[in-house]
Amino acid sequence: MTQVDVLLGLQWGDEGKGKIVDVLSPQYDLIARFQGGPNAGHTLEFDGKKFVLNTIPSGIFNEKTMNLIGNGVVIDPIILKRELDNLRAAGHDPIATGKLVIARKAHLILPTHQLLDAANEQRMGKDKIGSTLKGIGPTYMDKTGRNGLRVGDTTLPDFKERYNKLVEKHKEILSHYEFEYDLTEKEAAFFEAIEFIKSIPHVDSEHYVNGFLKAGKKVLAEGAQGTLLDIDFGSYPFVTSSNTTTAGACTGLGIAPNKIGNVYGIFKAYCTRVGGGPFPTELDDEVGENLRQVGHEFGATTGRARRCGWIDIPALKYAIMLNGVTELIMMKADVLDGFDTIYACTHYEHNGETIDYMPYDIISVKPTPVLKAIAGWKTDVTKINKVEEIPANLAAYITFLEKELEVPVKYLSVGPDRVQTLELI
Ligand code: GDP
Ligand code: IMO
Ligand code: MG
Repeated sequence: MTQVDVLLGLQWGDEGKGKIVDVLSPQYDLIARFQGGPNAGHTLEFDGKKFVLNTIPSGIFNEKTMNLIGNGVVIDPIILKRELDNLRAAGHDPIATGKLVIARKAHLILPTHQLLDAANEQRMGKDKIGSTLKGIGPTYMDKTGRNGLRVGDTTLPDFKERYNKLVEKHKEILSHYEFEYDLTEKEAAFFEAIEFIKSIPHVDSEHYVNGFLKAGKKVLAEGAQGTLLDIDFGSYPFVTSSNTTTAGACTGLGIAPNKIGNVYGIFKAYCTRVGGGPFPTELDDEVGENLRQVGHEFGATTGRARRCGWIDIPALKYAIMLNGVTELIMMKADVLDGFDTIYACTHYEHNGETIDYMPYDIISVKPTPVLKAIAGWKTDVTKINKVEEIPANLAAYITFLEKELEVPVKYLSVGPDRVQTLELI
């Protein structure tokens, strides 16, 4: 019997999960998304082509790998159809090749869930979360409130009535907001997309994944967002609405905790965040702007500028603890190529104390990062493909992080393309 390896983000998302899942997918028989929805934007680059996936797992370009959208994911049928249409137009048709299956128990994002998301953010004004406005929060609210519609419901004869009942409830809530909307077009697109997703095989993800394990096949669970956006352990309320941590892979696929194998924790050589909320190491200056420009730090889903800052070791330690990370993956080292000196936050000064953890009151009192200066490598690393070619100062940065974090760095990414990846151990 095999186990499920997990790959997830240790920061605030956009660490490069899509790229690395694609790189690792030849080692796996199944790639499974376990939470989140089209708030995710996972970018892959190979052979001079670039793809952004929102709902479809990032193993989709590998010939032999199956891909599952798990029960913990919330699915917008319109977006999923568009993703599949785009893939088909680029010569990849997972429906024709039978490489994509979808969990019956995954919940559906309705057009009115998006309206509720937008109405709520509008009302919050300057205190808004900075949601991607994909309807994620309201859909998970209906899931836990036991009102939601699931993929499996689409084949029931009374699906339309169930839909109408939920939409009536949403309209009533919307009537309490000063919020104008017109549902006609979106609703037509929704029902067209529902018909389309009926053609994707529906499975019970718990039996499906455990069946792979029983057959001795290899499974990788692909996280979305990042640990610091976790609904329980992130910087609440500036979080998403799912468990982005390893525990989420258990509930989001239907696997027992003792079936978890390796946990790959992925992080950038610096740090970014998109949307509102605390970010202790944020650089609100020309250094931050430099990171944003060199790293092309603009959202894959919404195009918003990402906030940028130095690497945050207390936050990474927290994420490693929560997830049981066994191996680290460091991304975007090349973005730091031009810096004479880079910095790493080792502690925070907070309420007169020096601490090395994320405090509960991080929302109301900004911790001051204690920074350690690290000599830059001043070398273009984007073309290196041997471990021996890694500049000494970059190797020293990695060793420093491994010592602080007490977990080895297994892969190093030096550019967005599949081939710009080095295996260190
Ligand atoms: P994800 O949400 O974790 O999959 O990450 P995103 O795709 O949202 O954001 C990562 C961005 O960085 C994408 O534009 C990737 O193409 C790009 N990227 C990934 N790895 C590297 C790297 O090592 N160097 C550089 N320069 N870009 C990278
Ligand atoms: P990937 O998988 C970065 C952020 C939003 C917002 C907060 C809540 O590409 O790493 P939501 O739409 O979930 O209600 O937004 O979470 N957010 C992400 N930030 N990467 C993501 O996904 C994100 N998904 C949501 O910006 O601050
Ligand atoms: Mg992303």
